Amino acid sequence: MEAFYKKLLDNNKDWVKNQLDKDPDFFNRLADGQQPPLLWIGCADSRVPANEIIGAQPGEVFVHRNIANMVIHTDMNMLSVLDYAVNVLKVKHVIVCGHYGCGGVAAAMTNKHFGLIDNWIRHIKDVYRFHSEELTLLKDEKSRFDRFVELNVVEQVMDLAKTSIIQGAWEKGQQIHLHGWVYDIKDGLIKDLGVNLKDNQSLSEVYQLDI
Ligand code: CO
Repeated sequence: MEAFYKKLLDNNKDWVKNQLDKDPDFFNRLADGQQPPLLWIGCADSRVPANEIIGAQPGEVFVHRNIANMVIHTDMNMLSVLDYAVNVLKVKHVIVCGHYGCGGVAAAMTNKHFGLIDNWIRHIKDVYRFHSEELTLLKDEKSRFDRFVELNVVEQVMDLAKTSIIQGAWEKGQQIHLHGWVYDIKDGLIKDLGVNLKDNQSLSEVYQLDI
């Protein structure tokens, strides 16, 4: 255990050396500030590291991760990240990236009681309820699970568009595109779900705010 812990700090030293060998100015440049063009909202799953899977370098992606890549409007952490990304960093894209085999989504398909996290997972269950007609038609459990992962991402993209933060930015004429992706742990490939929101017109009227 001690060895594992020590290895992490050794790895860091090796990484610094590698970076400096490739680019002696690397850290000086990053110390000057950040202007990432992209906010990533992904799952906390250890197999879906935001930067690596899209080949992004430090400074290129602003990242928020939680269980099952959720956009929950009472989550001050998510809202603060979104507000900072949109209003200070002025990102051009926000990507919600889910992944097949997501434990949070799997849990939402069962009636199991896990403890405190039940209250988080309940939001994923709401997505199941909204789409139960489509999902119950899928008799094969794996297909139903995969589709549920995709629909959960689409709903989180819509939930981003419902926020006053995103609608306020659009109203000011800021160009922000919202996208939904699903990462496949089995082959490492990302599927673009084709949701691409750039104004609030795709939202039901009741969500459209007069800002
Ligand atoms: Co997950």
